[in-house]
Amino acid sequence: MTRTLGIIGSGNIGAAVARTAVDAGLDVVLSNSRGPETLAGLVAELGPLARAATAAEAALTADVVLVSVPLAAFDKLPVEALAGKTVLDTANYYPQRDGRLPELDDRALTCSGLLQRHLPGARVVKAFNNITPRPILDLRRRAGAEDRSALPIAGDSDAAKAEAADLLDVLGFDAVDVGALADSWRSEPHTPVYVTPYLGGEIPALDLAGFLAWMDERISVPVGAKEITELIESAQRQDPAATRLPFTG
Ligand SMILES: NC(=O)c1ccc[n+]([C@@H]2O[C@H](COP(=O)([O-])OP(=O)(O)OC[C@H]3O[C@@H](n4cnc5c(N)ncnc54)[C@H](OP(=O)(O)O)[C@@H]3O)[C@@H](O)[C@H]2O)c1
Repeated sequence: MTRTLGIIGSGNIGAAVARTAVDAGLDVVLSNSRGPETLAGLVAELGPLARAATAAEAALTADVVLVSVPLAAFDKLPVEALAGKTVLDTANYYPQRDGRLPELDDRALTCSGLLQRHLPGARVVKAFNNITPRPILDLRRRAGAEDRSALPIAGDSDAAKAEAADLLDVLGFDAVDVGALADSWRSEPHTPVYVTPYLGGEIPALDLAGFLAWMDERISVPVGAKEITELIESAQRQDPAATRLPFTG
């Protein structure tokens, strides 16, 4: 059972998951690229169960590690410290932002498959990649609640997926098993389960400012395990090279 959650990448998603973990009574060790001192404000906001460390310390201290960084940071992760750990990967590939990666473009690998290759000793589970920060905070519910939401998970290790599902349960979500890392394209950008269900509709074509304003006005929508399963099953594999960020300009 996860008692300490390590977080590598404490931005939008990392901070939202950190909040859910602290609220659930877990110890959280946060890290980023610039050093623990730059996380003092976030740590103070999260309270006494949170502290900041280097990425390697966060990995070593933790039972489970959330890696929530851009793809460009995959080759800077602490490989040895993450060996033997269950690693939850939130990443998505946007060529516009991340640059073109041929193995992802030709679908030889999924984004989380790429992370697994960078971390051969870790057990990577894709999770939290298909939801934005506010619904993570808004949609937490106790186990058994009628309006409990579910999140897809995918991974090559059944033990790691069980650990991830247990952690999601503690944080307030059900888990839907998508399959192996090779199947994790089913929750990647532009698939039916990606982001929009929890926002209650398609994202209109807007520039960044308009998109952020639109996101601010959203009321998070619970999406249960049955619906998530149906959305996952209805997914068609997208062309990763055609993936576009959800705003224009
Ligand atoms: N934002 C969303 O709604 C959303 C939803 C689902 C999935 N995702 C995916 O989740 C990932 C993170 O997204 P985000 O929006 O949370 O990003 P973000 O706000 O830009 O945060 C990225 C975090 O990664 C850290 N980082 C970068 N390089 C690092 C390194 N070498 N070692 C340790 N930490 C490092 C950054 O630290 P510094 O600031 O110190 O550089 C920052 O804390 C992305 O792959 C994204 O596609 C995002």
